[in-house]
Amino acid sequence: MATLTYGKSPLDDPVREDYLVFGSPQLLEAEIKEVVATLRSGWIGTGPKVAAFERAFGEYVGTPQAVAVNSCTAALHLSMVAVDLQSGDEVIVPAMTFAATANAVIHAGGRPVLVDVDRETMCLDPDEVSRRITPRTRLIMPVHFAGRPCNMNAILSIAQLHGLMVIEDCAHAVETLYHGRHAGTLGDLGAFSFYVTKNVITGEGGMITTAKTDLAARIKTLALHGLDADAWKRFSDEGFKHYEVVEPGFKYNMMDTQAALGLHQLKRVEQNLIRRQEIWSRYDQAFADLPAYLPPPEESGTRHARHLYTLLLDLEQLKATRDQVALALHRQRIGTGVHYRALHLHKYYRQTFNYAPHDLPHAEWISERTLSLPLSPKLTDKDVDDVIFAVRRTLEYYAR
Ligand SMILES: Cc1ncc(COP(=O)(O)O)c(C=O)c1O
Repeated sequence: MATLTYGKSPLDDPVREDYLVFGSPQLLEAEIKEVVATLRSGWIGTGPKVAAFERAFGEYVGTPQAVAVNSCTAALHLSMVAVDLQSGDEVIVPAMTFAATANAVIHAGGRPVLVDVDRETMCLDPDEVSRRITPRTRLIMPVHFAGRPCNMNAILSIAQLHGLMVIEDCAHAVETLYHGRHAGTLGDLGAFSFYVTKNVITGEGGMITTAKTDLAARIKTLALHGLDADAWKRFSDEGFKHYEVVEPGFKYNMMDTQAALGLHQLKRVEQNLIRRQEIWSRYDQAFADLPAYLPPPEESGTRHARHLYTLLLDLEQLKATRDQVALALHRQRIGTGVHYRALHLHKYYRQTFNYAPHDLPHAEWISERTLSLPLSPKLTDKDVDDVIFAVRRTLEYYAR
């Protein structure tokens, strides 16, 4: 831990020399070599590495069909196009999520209906879901927030009762288990993210999982301009084959250079989860007496993917806002994140759908208090000590 010389306030003294970047990915020599080998191979676009990554990911989550794409946003969009979402169809989306979840609904022609979340788990509240269903509701899109599975038994029962499809947003949930099954295999489709801050990274990247062979085949076609089966092989050593455009698709395919990273990252994901769990326990112990609500424990029968460690600041006990706390940590060279400011508070959603702040009170409450701390398997014990020291010092300084 750093030796400190106190300046104007203790919060002016950095706890370390270098800046601890929030969500910095762990990239090891093995995947760097694999990317370089891919570059040298002469085949860097969609090819055999993507196919191998799809097989490996499908096996890992236990799904017969896995289709790689270039982001989770693309995965969500394609999933909705593939199930023929119609203009004006309503899709239930939690207000506490990243903009991509609801934006994708709009791009697919639907109308996102923002629903409040449980204050503790930050996942969709099934009672609120039931209240928001109308004759136009077509889909429910639960987000397994921070890696904690939603109450899928309740959500799937509601979906069944009303004849709705379920697309799981698994951006945070590669390792998430729910009563023995992986996230992404519970609903009709699952959409994963391999963005740089995620638990498995490919730079940009995503995966769609489903048990439905016909849906997977259509998604594969839609991901590459709507060209018919195996069009990616048209320049391979099998020789040129003509393709047919079977519908107007998108340019959402993953590249082999991305899959080269993913193959190695996936091999380490369980080992990395153990490290994430260790850091998580250290934070739980270190912050128990601070003016903040800690993430609730993992529910029995489930496994939390430990993607985000979010403190909910007890603002009633503090003389500072969340943003002031984040700034103080930044000055001490500790990077943090805000996941998220609820969607109904953002200009586009406010103006387009006439949301007011108090419409979704739990999501609003979380928005003002939430602060995510570094939780990458790349963190050394010293990095974790620095985070703990800076967070404790900051919250003690601002305590009423
Ligand atoms: C909950 C959630 N959904 C969707 C996305 C979009 O993922 P991507 O950046 O891979 O498109 C993210 C990314 O941060 C996310 O956190």
